[in-house]
Amino acid sequence: MTDGTTSPSAANGLAQSAVRPSPERRGLRAMLKHGHAVLLHRLHESLVDRRYRHLETVPTGGMVELDGLHIESENKAFVTHYSPTPRLLTRWVHQALPRDLADWTFVDVGAGRGRVLLQAATRPYRRIVGLEFAEELADAAERNVAGFPRDRIAARAVEVQRTDALAFDPPEGPTVYFIFNPFGAPVMRRFVARIAAAYAAKPRPMICALVNPAEVAVFAHHPDFKPIALKPGLALKLALFSPYGVALYGTPEALALLD
Ligand SMILES: C[S@@+](CC[C@H](N)C(=O)[O-])C[C@H]1O[C@@H](n2cnc3c(N)ncnc32)[C@H](O)[C@@H]1O
Repeated sequence: MTDGTTSPSAANGLAQSAVRPSPERRGLRAMLKHGHAVLLHRLHESLVDRRYRHLETVPTGGMVELDGLHIESENKAFVTHYSPTPRLLTRWVHQALPRDLADWTFVDVGAGRGRVLLQAATRPYRRIVGLEFAEELADAAERNVAGFPRDRIAARAVEVQRTDALAFDPPEGPTVYFIFNPFGAPVMRRFVARIAAAYAAKPRPMICALVNPAEVAVFAHHPDFKPIALKPGLALKLALFSPYGVALYGTPEALALLD
């Protein structure tokens, strides 16, 4: 334009660029976000998580590349590494879940070395199941469960299943699925289809707790799962101190149980 006016389409373009940053800016923003998450994760590890190492037979901290591990599954192509959820973050997720857990099963989808299982075990769940397809990580999770002090366990049963999450039959009754980045969208879609089929066969309370929810789109338009709003205090805590975002989705039966 040479006359100083702006055409409607150019104005529209300007308006769009005001809400949608350029690819370079988006790249920079993603880099800063990643750096911030890495920093916060390290702070959690050094300030909180290492204080609990004495409760672990095999240390759960650190990252493990899955390349060299024994995994019998075609789905290993959709996974890169193991990394544990910071303990405080798991505790905050539990604060958003129902209080009466006596009928509930907790499933850690991709349990790694079992850190999340140990934490869930301190709560009075009916049953806790960790699904893990990497042999070495499942070994570590089993050893951690076996060595966890009995007087800290409030759950009625805790088990590790050496299986691909897609080969697992969803349990009867109310279930929480804890999902910290186990796999990419193609496997996530199939996993959600499995639990949705179990729900369709027998409607029940189900909650999916997504940590670092890269695959949130799989849930966002799902007819059976609705977003669970976090209480403002919890949302603020997560926004300020969590390395990763958290998103919860539940079936209507689960939403009815949450106050
Ligand atoms: C990011 S780690 C999370 C570990 C643990 N849930 C935690 O939060 O501390 C993801 C784990 O999922 C496991 N995993 C990935 N795809 C899987 C699948 N299809 N079946 C079972 N385990 C899987 C990986 O081996 C890895 O241990």
